[in-house]
Amino acid sequence: MIHSLEVDANRIQSDLDELSKISDSDFPCVTRILWTEKDMLARAWLKGKMEEAGLVVREDEIGNIFGRLQADGPNCPAIATGSHNDAIPFSGMYDGTVGVLGGLEALRSIRKFLQKTGKSLAKSIDLIMFTAEEPTRFGIGCLGSRLMAGTLSPEQAHDLRDANGELLESIRSKAQYRGDLANVRLENNCYDAFVELHIEQGPLLEQLGLQIGIVTAIAAPSSLRVKYEGPGGHAGAVLMKDRRDPILPAAKLILEVHDAAHELGGEDTVATTGVVKVHPGAINSIPREVIVEMDIRDIDLERRTRVLQRVEAKAHALGRDASIPTTLEWINADPPATCDSKIVDTIQSVCDTYQFTSQKMISRAYHDSLFMAQICPTAMIFIPCRDGISHRPEEYASTEAIEVGVKTLASTLLELAEIV
Ligand code: GLV
Ligand code: MN
Ligand code: MN
Repeated sequence: MIHSLEVDANRIQSDLDELSKISDSDFPCVTRILWTEKDMLARAWLKGKMEEAGLVVREDEIGNIFGRLQADGPNCPAIATGSHNDAIPFSGMYDGTVGVLGGLEALRSIRKFLQKTGKSLAKSIDLIMFTAEEPTRFGIGCLGSRLMAGTLSPEQAHDLRDANGELLESIRSKAQYRGDLANVRLENNCYDAFVELHIEQGPLLEQLGLQIGIVTAIAAPSSLRVKYEGPGGHAGAVLMKDRRDPILPAAKLILEVHDAAHELGGEDTVATTGVVKVHPGAINSIPREVIVEMDIRDIDLERRTRVLQRVEAKAHALGRDASIPTTLEWINADPPATCDSKIVDTIQSVCDTYQFTSQKMISRAYHDSLFMAQICPTAMIFIPCRDGISHRPEEYASTEAIEVGVKTLASTLLELAEIV
């Protein structure tokens, strides 16, 4: 039986407002990058909130934070919810945080319901704040959930470096996280269910006037890094005929990636060049090294593969034609995820009980759910955000929309955790 639950919308909003101020850029921009001083403050703040809410808090070796609402009895199974609190540079205050602080409010409301009715949970519920869903610091997204699912090995994680060339291991230990990263790995089916609440990051729900999106699949992300190298030289003294300028194949590759998505892809194929690094980056110096980083996604894996193959072939051909050494590195190429149909049905029943308007949809953005889906039944709840904007300071979801999302999440979790 689906239970309707009360949530405190003002408290969620004030939690979101408070967290948005723990940032390395001035409001309304939010920047919170893994293991910076602000990220560490935000972590301490969240752990305090979890403890206040009566959750049992633990952290793993990579800094994933777990707050558990305990079932009655030892060795009970568990379900989980959660998302991320890190924010890419100069972005907004709702991406990820709605799932963490909304999840926190959902657990508060479930706890209150249990206290009022004298009932208890058959399954514990974990609230998880995943480490570094965003790729900002180490170039790879979903660091915490990849290690949990075993998609990234501890050895691969040890080799990651940030933009200053510092190894993850060194930064991790400065942040006081120690111990074997192998311990982060969770067993398959460690959770009976995982449900993530998130803003849609697209315009569909708002355009259709719907309150909830029930996610049935998550698009497959991939990203690559291409480095072109040349001898460099003086911008005035080296004649055009004597140059081997690595910025030229890089510039052509950027256009090529865009064209490949257009020509080989469908509506769901997207390609972005979001990083271009030029060394030495001086206006009067021919570049010696140019790195471009590209993100290519699709819900259809075969179609994405065709785009990736063309980009890879073109990246090498452009370097070869210009006699410029080329290095290509795949940062990730993940498969899409299918959401669990039973959880999808439960979310649907919850929406129907509350009479929330809803529609099934795919997630074009990736989420920690992409990796949780590899180890346990997973689904996602989307709420509308204004104009579909995300990864920009203008990102906005109304308190009312968040309240609807949190009620849906809370009742879904209560149903999945089975009360006794
Ligand atoms: C997550 O932030 C994504 O890039 O989809
Ligand atoms: Mn994001
Ligand atoms: Mn997110």
